[in-house]
Amino acid sequence: MTLRFGILTSSDRSSRGERPDLSGPALADLVTAQGWTVTHTAIVPDDLDALRKTLSTWADSGEMDIILTTGGTGFTPRDVTPEATGLVIDRQAPGLAEAMRLESRKVTPHAMLSRAVAGMRGRVLIINLPGNPKAAAENLQVVLPVLAHAVELLKEDPGAEKHH
Ligand code: MTE
Repeated sequence: MTLRFGILTSSDRSSRGERPDLSGPALADLVTAQGWTVTHTAIVPDDLDALRKTLSTWADSGEMDIILTTGGTGFTPRDVTPEATGLVIDRQAPGLAEAMRLESRKVTPHAMLSRAVAGMRGRVLIINLPGNPKAAAENLQVVLPVLAHAVELLKEDPGAEKHH
């Protein structure tokens, strides 16, 4: 099953061109290595409204199955990606964020500082990942094995049963 991804980088500095976005491309590499496609990428400032608008526009476009965000999940006052995600999702998927924190806790205690959330807007899954490229990749690797089945269920694909 081909999955279609949007990858949204939340970073004040990268959005101003002051720092290259390394985490977005790192996530895109992991996605395409699975044979999946990246249909949309964007870099927005750590701004609640910019994030909320991009997430809802992308999710409602019908052009992607999963949106990965990277950055803005920590404790600085500018970190608002989980709040923006909370405004646009209609259902939560806490198991994904729980698993990512659990596994990341084995790599660094700083995993406890990730406030990442995951949830669905309609039939689109949105997953927050940290901003550091290594951290973003490590977190995505944790949930990667369940993403195809997650999307099958979201789309009510009749073939979904065989994965149970
Ligand atoms: N998870 C993994 N696997 N590896 C990491 O190095 N870094 C943590 C955490 N999750 C990290 C990780 C750190 S230092 C922070 S502050 C939080 O993710 C939030 O990152 P963000 O503010 O860039 O979104």
